[in-house]
Amino acid sequence: MFDGKPGFILVDCGLRLPLMKIWPVRRIKGFISLPGDKSISHRAALIAGVAEGPSELINFSTSRDCESTLKCLEQLGVIVTRSANTVTIQPPDQLRVPVGPLDCGNSGSTMRMLAGLLAGNNLTCELTGDDSLSSRPMKRVIEPLEMMGTKIQSSGGKPPLVIQGTLPLSAITYELPVASAQVKSCVLFAGLNATGRTIVIEPATTRDHTERLFNGFGVPVEITGTAIAINGPARFVGGDMTIPGDISSAAYFVAAAMLLPNSELTIEDVCLNPTRTEFISLLRGWGGDIESIETRSDRNEPSGSIKVAASVITRGSNQPFRIGKDSIPALIDELPLVAVVGSQLAGVEVRGAAELRVKETDRINATVKNLRAMGAEVEEFDDGLFVNGPTKLRGAQLESFGDHRIAMAFSIAALVADGPSEISGASCVDISFPEFFDLLKQVVEA
Ligand code: S3P
Repeated sequence: MFDGKPGFILVDCGLRLPLMKIWPVRRIKGFISLPGDKSISHRAALIAGVAEGPSELINFSTSRDCESTLKCLEQLGVIVTRSANTVTIQPPDQLRVPVGPLDCGNSGSTMRMLAGLLAGNNLTCELTGDDSLSSRPMKRVIEPLEMMGTKIQSSGGKPPLVIQGTLPLSAITYELPVASAQVKSCVLFAGLNATGRTIVIEPATTRDHTERLFNGFGVPVEITGTAIAINGPARFVGGDMTIPGDISSAAYFVAAAMLLPNSELTIEDVCLNPTRTEFISLLRGWGGDIESIETRSDRNEPSGSIKVAASVITRGSNQPFRIGKDSIPALIDELPLVAVVGSQLAGVEVRGAAELRVKETDRINATVKNLRAMGAEVEEFDDGLFVNGPTKLRGAQLESFGDHRIAMAFSIAALVADGPSEISGASCVDISFPEFFDLLKQVVEA
């Protein structure tokens, strides 16, 4: 079946979902820069959409998810102009009633944060999504928004959501039942249209882009320990921002360069926000030769370059690594990749990560199935998994389960495997990183 040379190739197998064939490679070498961070791009677009005055967002994410956010804003009367990697946003005086439902596609961030933004407007809007998003939990945003005075109809706590905006909202103090940056951000966006002080209390620190960008675009956010507060009503001042490269996209390249002997890779101007760099710290702790140098900051978001050199060492004790619930929020999007990397080192146990079951797919089960297909010894728990290591993975038939992070994590597994692999539905990488395979092709050496 596999008669090609080492490398990789996308094969349109005639079905709706193309198949990616990936051969192992010798090493990774080169310089890359990445499209803008998805989490920052969503927030910058939403902020710019309701700010006073226009904004220019340079190096905006090319992801399908962020395009969903832009399209929803356009339906609400925001003028969006796309030119190369720059998005210009001209907000209306007031958001207008959209014609038809606001389609959030596959994007939980779009639906949850937009729900917060719309809660305090005199509009009734329907938020819909694709099959994956339609099965994801929304009670976590419905509950605080209803406490603030909005009425929301849902399908048993799942999308579609019909939001009947209310103006003004009542400010609340809300303790998050789950450590979720999307839910925190939803309440803070709603707090812009509430009278008084809205406070969100986090059970664990999650990515803090909303706090940084609110401050950066003129709405003060006060942080005291685990409490995050804003005073409403408040309005942003539009302006320009150069969005740093996506650190979660960089993670796949960092992992590959660390694992493949003789690799050397530099990633330029990537997000170095400390709430997003736990994966880099983890790999350093596992022996990774990874250097990061902060070079600039825009709207309070620090960024700089990351340099990685091949650096797999076998630890003397050979005890598996353990990742517990305290580290989960900071690693949430990287956990399938953590399992792949762990399989190449001393093995890894991940616990306290039940949230992974309600991502774009059940990422615990998807990771376990693919690792087993590659011959790894894996145990599945309700809240995580254990994978033994070091294991020479073998090339296999793998599935993306329609989930971009599963497709990318297992592309890296395929690069370090023995023999070629096929990943079905790999084109879903465009949800966060359409350039993934092209950039990988640029830096792999067969
Ligand atoms: C995100 C928060 C996380 C993360 C998602 C992006 C964000 O989700 O998994 O990819 O931009 O706020 P949760 O808030 O559901 O943990």
